[in-house]
Amino acid sequence: MPSINQELIERRDAARVGGGQARVDKHHAKGKLTARERVEILLDEDSFKESDMFVEHRCNDFGMQDQKIPGDGVITGWGTINGRLVFVFSQDFTVFGGSLSEAHAEKICKIMDQAMKVGAPVIGLNDSGGARIQEGVASLGGYAEVFQRNVLASGVVPQISMVMGPCAGGAVYSPAMTDFIFMVRDTSYMFVTGPEVVKTVTHEEVTHEELGGADTHATVSGVCDIAFENELHALRKVREFYDFLPLNNKEKPPHRPCYDPTDRRETSLNTLVPDNPNQPYDIHELIVKVVDDNHFFEIQPDYAKNIIVGMARMDGKTVGIVANQPLVLAGCLDIKSSIKAARFVRFCDAFNIPIVTFVDVPGFLPGTAQEYGGIIKHGAKLLFAYAQCTVPKITVITRKAYGGAYDVMASKHLRGDVNLAWPKAEIAVMGPKGAVEIIFRKDIGDAEKIELRTEEYRDKFANPYVAASRGYIDDVISPDNTRNHICRSLDMLANKSLENPWRKHDNLPL
Ligand code: HXC
Repeated sequence: MPSINQELIERRDAARVGGGQARVDKHHAKGKLTARERVEILLDEDSFKESDMFVEHRCNDFGMQDQKIPGDGVITGWGTINGRLVFVFSQDFTVFGGSLSEAHAEKICKIMDQAMKVGAPVIGLNDSGGARIQEGVASLGGYAEVFQRNVLASGVVPQISMVMGPCAGGAVYSPAMTDFIFMVRDTSYMFVTGPEVVKTVTHEEVTHEELGGADTHATVSGVCDIAFENELHALRKVREFYDFLPLNNKEKPPHRPCYDPTDRRETSLNTLVPDNPNQPYDIHELIVKVVDDNHFFEIQPDYAKNIIVGMARMDGKTVGIVANQPLVLAGCLDIKSSIKAARFVRFCDAFNIPIVTFVDVPGFLPGTAQEYGGIIKHGAKLLFAYAQCTVPKITVITRKAYGGAYDVMASKHLRGDVNLAWPKAEIAVMGPKGAVEIIFRKDIGDAEKIELRTEEYRDKFANPYVAASRGYIDDVISPDNTRNHICRSLDMLANKSLENPWRKHDNLPL
């Protein structure tokens, strides 16, 4: 007598085959993992609970009634990453090219709704030919249902998109509305219109990779947060990244036991800043030397490198790090870096992650390219983000904090909680040379006089003590003790409570 489970076993086996062995082989031959293999690597062993394995499409056109594949091209469910709940969908390219039908969209929406109800993040593994062409408008409706949920979930539960294959047309807008987009080199691409349409409309000849490959989006457009070498690496790194995040906006980020002493001194930091104020240094060195176990998870490492953002831990607690990078454009703020950092600051604020800001900024980048590109509005995004945010904010000025950029970079005036400066910090309207050339313009021909005036200006203003005398800086600290100051400040701020006035929503300068 057949077992009571016989039919169930057979149906499950059929669903697991996806589009069939031949298509799986073709998929593997491209260097890609299948949708199920990806889920297995992403989640803890045996933790995946699949739902809607038997869902089929309802299309009866173009012979589709004879081609029903259980699951309909997307694997959905929930599981854990290092023991913490996560909802996942993974598109199966071997089933109708992972294209999105009405039923496929319903499956994604179902897990998004559940994730919102229980307060857990959603990770989407995207690998799809876009709208299921045979279904027409039903598929477009399905996309919009997903978009709507992306928007409602934004700032409530973290949303992460991994683009592991094609993602084209309107389909790009679901990842675009999630918090982070990770891509894989050579096998994934994202664009609104493909190379063929581009050629017809603009006569440009461009490959898929050039137009929307991982490197393009990680370095040129900034759409992608990190481009990974291969899928395995991408999935492992996303597990690592997940550990930094709280499950939802009502939780604090996870706290790990920390064995790195909070009072660890780094004497090498005392000589990090060169004597010559125009000589650059690598702010990465400060970041990795100050955070727990030198472990820094950088976001957008290849885009707008004049500002650095990423996650780390201090005394076991997640912090978001923002740092000007003197090695690139002297650490100036420009359009791209302002947008990059503003988005990161807003993510941290939405999810209760304290922000540590390291400042060495000579100002905003001058020039017509910046002005015509709207640096006024884009720079305002970062200002707005810092001013609005209510999580603990700790700021350390290592060297320059000039002009408007001083105000922007989590200054005391934007409700910075603990504002510290290193002894060589220069907090001023502008650098001494520029200042003297303006206020002593009549003496410009007299090099000796100008030199004297510059020295005078430097002594008077290019130091942290004028700001400290006004309380704009809470303390001037020895660089080697920076870690201890930050850890203790974070402790003090653990129960910080600050609310912005009620409003329907703000009007961030978009
Ligand atoms: C139905 C699709 C499909 C789709 C691919 N397939 N895309 N089926 N709807 N959108 C099927 C193919 O028929 C094929 O079936 C299988 O998936 C694999 O496709 P291949 O073409 O053999 O794979 P490959 O050579 O790797 O090319 C992948 C591709 C190409 C570049 C994605 O398939 C492609 O261009 N597809 C169409 C893309 C597209 O125009 N989508 C609509 C965009 S508009 P068999 O049976 O042979 O295995 C859109 C609007 C969204 O998405 C709007 C939201 C608001």
